Amino acid sequence: MKVIVLNDGNSIPVVGLGTYKSVNDDGIQSIKSALAKGYRLIDTAAKYNNEEEVGKGITESGIDRKEIIVTTKLWRENLGYEETKKAFELSFKKLGLTYIDLYLIHWPANARNYTNWQKVNADSWRAMEELQAEGRIKSIGVSNFWQEHLEALFQTAKVIPAVNQIEFHPGYWQPELTAFCKKNDIVVESWSPLARGKIFGNDILNAIAEKHNKSVSQICLRWVIQHDVVVIPKSTILQRIEENIAIFDFELSEEEMKQINELPEIGFSGELPNIWPERIDVSSR
Ligand SMILES: NC(=O)c1ccc[n+]([C@@H]2O[C@H](COP(=O)([O-])OP(=O)(O)OC[C@H]3O[C@@H](n4cnc5c(N)ncnc54)[C@H](OP(=O)(O)O)[C@@H]3O)[C@@H](O)[C@H]2O)c1
Repeated sequence: MKVIVLNDGNSIPVVGLGTYKSVNDDGIQSIKSALAKGYRLIDTAAKYNNEEEVGKGITESGIDRKEIIVTTKLWRENLGYEETKKAFELSFKKLGLTYIDLYLIHWPANARNYTNWQKVNADSWRAMEELQAEGRIKSIGVSNFWQEHLEALFQTAKVIPAVNQIEFHPGYWQPELTAFCKKNDIVVESWSPLARGKIFGNDILNAIAEKHNKSVSQICLRWVIQHDVVVIPKSTILQRIEENIAIFDFELSEEEMKQINELPEIGFSGELPNIWPERIDVSSR
């Protein structure tokens, strides 16, 4: 599996498994299937209520723990120094592992919801830096941080985030934020790379898929990794788990990349980090 080296020297595979809504036995089984098929990056979060399943799937897979990169995330209701430490302990216990590879702030405190949002993010970050220094987390990063949130964090951070996990799929890929992250040596990771299924049915994506004899999912995922962005599609279906990792035997041309880059908005979630948890109504789009 191709990997990207992070700014702290650790590596992350370019394709991983998303687990939002992967719960119970299906959740455990999807982790085991993905690991058996060659996935080495698993993305969960405290909010997904499946850290126990993820930990179980990893342990039961029989694959050497050192080969697997496990990400979990700090939920927004647990921002702050003490709260972060407490929330981390809970995630750690549920996962049942001896260390976490990548721990992310799931959503930034923002100006709409906090008067002292810069301090709230900085305090969480300080707690994460300490956990990293203790060796309990290998890499620390953020999710859904815009440039304003990153620039504020840079004021007090001793460690630059290794990763920023953001909404990134054909029809909504935040090119300016992506460029800002790359300029600052922060690896971008794409969430909802298939726009939770909303990318299907697009004529341009269908035509490119047909030309390469690949599925529309594979075209979208390949487009993400050709941007040097890590991708974590979610599925609990074995055939799709296999399909989503079979993206290393073809290449999109510059013209095809451009065509996909320039698609009009498709499948935007309505979730904006500066107002979240409020969201834009996208039901009529
Ligand atoms: N940091 C954040 O704020 C944030 C936000 C959202 C998501 N995430 C992470 O990113 C991961 C991926 O995003 P997501 O789950 O929102 O959406 P996604 O990966 O874009 O789409 C998942 C949906 O597509 C279906 N699917 C998967 N592969 C397919 C294929 N080859 N053909 C047809 N349908 C397919 C899945 O159904 P089946 O399972 O039935 O196959 C599921 O309904 C999440 O699971 C989570 O780990 C993070």
